[in-house]
Amino acid sequence: MTVNKKKLIEVALPLDAINKASAREKSIRHGHPSTLHLWWARRPLAAARAVIFAQMVDDPSEYVDVLRSDARLKRRAGQVLKARRKHWREAVERAERAEGTTLDPPNPGPEPTLDEVLADLERERLCALIEELVQWENSTNEAVLDKARAEIRQSWRRACDYNAGHPRAQALFDRNKLPAFHDPFAGGGALPLEAQRLGLEAWASDLNPVAVLINKAMIEIPPRFAGQAPVNPASRANAASSGSWKGATGLAEDVRYYGQWMRDEAEKRIGHLYPKMKVTAEMVAERPDLKRYAGRELTVIAWLWARTVNSPNPAFAGVEVPLASTFMLSTKKGKEAYVEPVIENGGYRFTVKVGQPKDPAAAKAGTKLGRGAFKCLMSGTPFKYEYIDAEANAGRMGARLMAIVAEGDRSRVYLAPTQENEAIARSAEPGWKPDAPSRGTWASNAQGRRYGFRTFGDYFTPRQLVALTTFSDLVGEAMARIREEAIAAGLLDDDKPLRDGGTGARAYAEAVVVEMLRQGSGLAVFSEEAGHIGWDDGDLLWVNRPGFPGGHIV
Ligand SMILES: C[S@@+](CC[C@H](N)C(=O)[O-])C[C@H]1O[C@@H](n2cnc3c(N)ncnc32)[C@H](O)[C@@H]1O
Repeated sequence: MTVNKKKLIEVALPLDAINKASAREKSIRHGHPSTLHLWWARRPLAAARAVIFAQMVDDPSEYVDVLRSDARLKRRAGQVLKARRKHWREAVERAERAEGTTLDPPNPGPEPTLDEVLADLERERLCALIEELVQWENSTNEAVLDKARAEIRQSWRRACDYNAGHPRAQALFDRNKLPAFHDPFAGGGALPLEAQRLGLEAWASDLNPVAVLINKAMIEIPPRFAGQAPVNPASRANAASSGSWKGATGLAEDVRYYGQWMRDEAEKRIGHLYPKMKVTAEMVAERPDLKRYAGRELTVIAWLWARTVNSPNPAFAGVEVPLASTFMLSTKKGKEAYVEPVIENGGYRFTVKVGQPKDPAAAKAGTKLGRGAFKCLMSGTPFKYEYIDAEANAGRMGARLMAIVAEGDRSRVYLAPTQENEAIARSAEPGWKPDAPSRGTWASNAQGRRYGFRTFGDYFTPRQLVALTTFSDLVGEAMARIREEAIAAGLLDDDKPLRDGGTGARAYAEAVVVEMLRQGSGLAVFSEEAGHIGWDDGDLLWVNRPGFPGGHIV
């Protein structure tokens, strides 16, 4: 039978330090995996590192005999014991004095022993190491990590000794081989990443392919190309970069280079579909808050569309009314912005206002009426999801641009859409559209509604399809280019893919692309927040985040 000893995590953890370091991670903007892809349930690295360490090392009460043989520790423990015993005696006396009275002093408990003090001092040492270990700055501090790894190995050797008589001791308790770590529900991969950092062989799996991609990109691929110099021509031509490439720094350099190349190429091919927004004098006249941007061209972050259906009211037959679950664009205090529809000439247009809406409840509600229904913007006539479904299935679901979100000086700027903008978006013509049959929207599967989404291609607007197919083409082109340049840089031209353990030019090209996709998949829409498709979706976010090579689509 396996002999299991008590682990540190069962007795003590420096929770304050772990909590503080975990909370701090949220504001780390550089180098943290969450800045590449924000996985919805990711655990903080600090907490993951601390709990793996504390699960791997023995609680000191399990090896007091070893502690007793440390003369210095024993001397220190002797002094601490003296003080503890003094307190204990005082407590015993208090308890004795209280006998027969109404006083109820705390129970002094058993007399403190040297073994207890030795274990406490050792626990303090281990907890201090955890406090050091969880600091973000120490994530790559080899001196600190090595101390932690040595403790883990030490506990493991003890486990092997206790289990020397186990019938499968040779396979399971090899002193020179730490046990592997497996997280079958790895998600964002915080646990296997930290296990690997602490010197364990890490295995991860997950049902969700995005989680698998994140884990492969984070844990499996970088170690395979550790020490590899970048293959891109710019780095190779640069004499200064010919030094040593520690860990995955060479791979990271190539991800940056080819990511930038893809971004530049995409901008050349489809940039015209995403024009900047010029803030004109007329716009400023209507919206004085735009004065600081007068004459400037602002980069657009998002085009907010509302899906539309024909008005159910015969008096407005032919008017495509919006399915807007809210008209509020920003509810941030002091930065409120909202869409205000203007009904005119038998139709409507959208304007954007800043400040508190005159009717906050109406702005918040958009054209939505409680559960399962919307109302016609023109007439207030209510209609149900069944009507939307029928309109969509009859090919009468459209879309209207509701607002434009642009990048201002350290804040977002909400602008009213222009006809020109809408026309440019509508001018996009994808060369290809996924035609695999789909089951409808996720939110409505239970009701059996399809809202006209018959194929996977139907989920996307033409402009989204143009963008996505362009990126998809560029992935292939980037792969071919990287492979060629990897061969020129001296990597083996062996055609062995990454999934079969390849380390040559083909596998390297695949590795660079996987790392790029992991960053780009920050754009995956199966929304961590929304979890479903709404009727008023962002069309395309093209965020020029510093350090992000590929742009960002939603
Ligand atoms: C709470 S998350 C894990 C979070 C992770 N510890 C982290 O730090 O990101 C749970 C994960 O379990 C996965 N999952 C759920 N059921 C599964 C199954 N039957 N097989 C494999 N993975 C599953 C989900 O896809 C999800 O990624």
